[in-house]
Amino acid sequence: MSKTMTDKQQNKLWGGRFSESTDQFVQEFTASVNFDQRMYRQDIFGSQAHATMLAEVGVLTEEERDAIINGLAEIQKEIEAGEFQWSVALEDVHMNIEARLTDKIGITGKKLHTGRSRNDQVATDIRLWLRDEMLIMEEQYLYLMQGLLNLAEREAATIMPGFTHLQTAQPVTFGHHLLAWFEMLKRDRERLLDAKKRVNRMPLGAAALAGTTYPINRQRTCELLGFDGVCENSLDAVSDRDFAIEFCALAALSMTHLSRISEELVLWTSAQFNFINLPDRFCTGSSIMPQKKNPDVPELVRGKTGRVNGHLISLLTLMKSQPLAYNKDNQEDKEPLYDAVDTLKGSLRAFGDMIPALEPNREVMREAARRGFATATDLADYLVRKGIAFRDSHEIVGKAVAYGVEKKKDLSDMSLSELKQFSDQIEDDVFDVLTLEGSVSARNHIGGTAPDQVRAAVARAREALDNTGNA
Ligand code: ARG
Repeated sequence: MSKTMTDKQQNKLWGGRFSESTDQFVQEFTASVNFDQRMYRQDIFGSQAHATMLAEVGVLTEEERDAIINGLAEIQKEIEAGEFQWSVALEDVHMNIEARLTDKIGITGKKLHTGRSRNDQVATDIRLWLRDEMLIMEEQYLYLMQGLLNLAEREAATIMPGFTHLQTAQPVTFGHHLLAWFEMLKRDRERLLDAKKRVNRMPLGAAALAGTTYPINRQRTCELLGFDGVCENSLDAVSDRDFAIEFCALAALSMTHLSRISEELVLWTSAQFNFINLPDRFCTGSSIMPQKKNPDVPELVRGKTGRVNGHLISLLTLMKSQPLAYNKDNQEDKEPLYDAVDTLKGSLRAFGDMIPALEPNREVMREAARRGFATATDLADYLVRKGIAFRDSHEIVGKAVAYGVEKKKDLSDMSLSELKQFSDQIEDDVFDVLTLEGSVSARNHIGGTAPDQVRAAVARAREALDNTGNA
């Protein structure tokens, strides 16, 4: 391995015990600054709280504390102005900022790290960072969910075929289908809120692994940083990344929901279904086929689900064999976590914009429901009400459907005498149940597809959102 400058010359913060400098490649291989610099705000916030606490317990003087806090605030400005020189030799965001602080305020800068370690510092930074991102996502879910409720209310009586096995099953209302999506996302948001309880705990004070000999006040730092509580055990505090795994798990699950919705949008915008028109701004064209308008946004969300599933597996695998406490392996937690956050946020944003813009082709949806013998179950239920056992009525309607397939006629297109061939119990009132409106309106209970139930469900969901902010 080639030798470059000595570590002292490289300005390493840990060079004391080393007699040769880090290999150039090893330096780059082990550095995280290129990606962890995105936590600079949380790193500075954490350091300022740490310095405040150290001054309160008498480890720093008030002048030292002020120099540190102000120096860090200036560094934040330098970073935000794009003037900060990030150095790979300084390995990570923590040492880059600390070295710059010492540049600016001299020896006092070197006191900031008293009573802590990068191990508890990095664990604190990631939790602060994830907490901030989760707040944004909570709002994104709300926005998307409200968009779904508005659309569901508008489309409460719009009829479409409901599917099982992707075959026409029974008529449903489009509003009801939209509310199914709403429920999926409501649970995703609940999971996010629940996971935040475990993200928002403070590792700081665990120091390298065993705690510190300084008279630190962890409760105070915890309060300054807005954590819900401290991590109770120092070894656990610096070593576990279960909170990040948990986030990736809920992100993967939520992406899976968005992917299923995407799949439906891709199908429904195809010329074959033509249930939905997606405005041009969510689509792109083909460079060879002039007629194409591709539903890129849903396709990409569906595709990006794979990487989030992958990040969950990466983090589980990263964790599974690590002995306590901190290991450098944990530096590998960041890129998967960052990308899971970016991907979910991007997908939620795209959906938040796209859902309110969906344009249903109501006539096409209705015609599709009419064509597929979607009211066959209604006819069977009708015969049961006339005293025929369900299995027998199923058989009777099966024959009527076979006849319809042969004659290319839907049940509602058959005359009374045609229908009577299958059962003399069929009377004139059968046409009430064979209509699409009759079919959906009859499913009139909580969770059913009747337009009135859709409107009532929207009202309940709105009230829950208004009352608690939590659907
Ligand atoms: N960059 C490191 C990480 O992301 C920070 C902690 C390093 N600690 C250590 N003892 N080398 O995990």
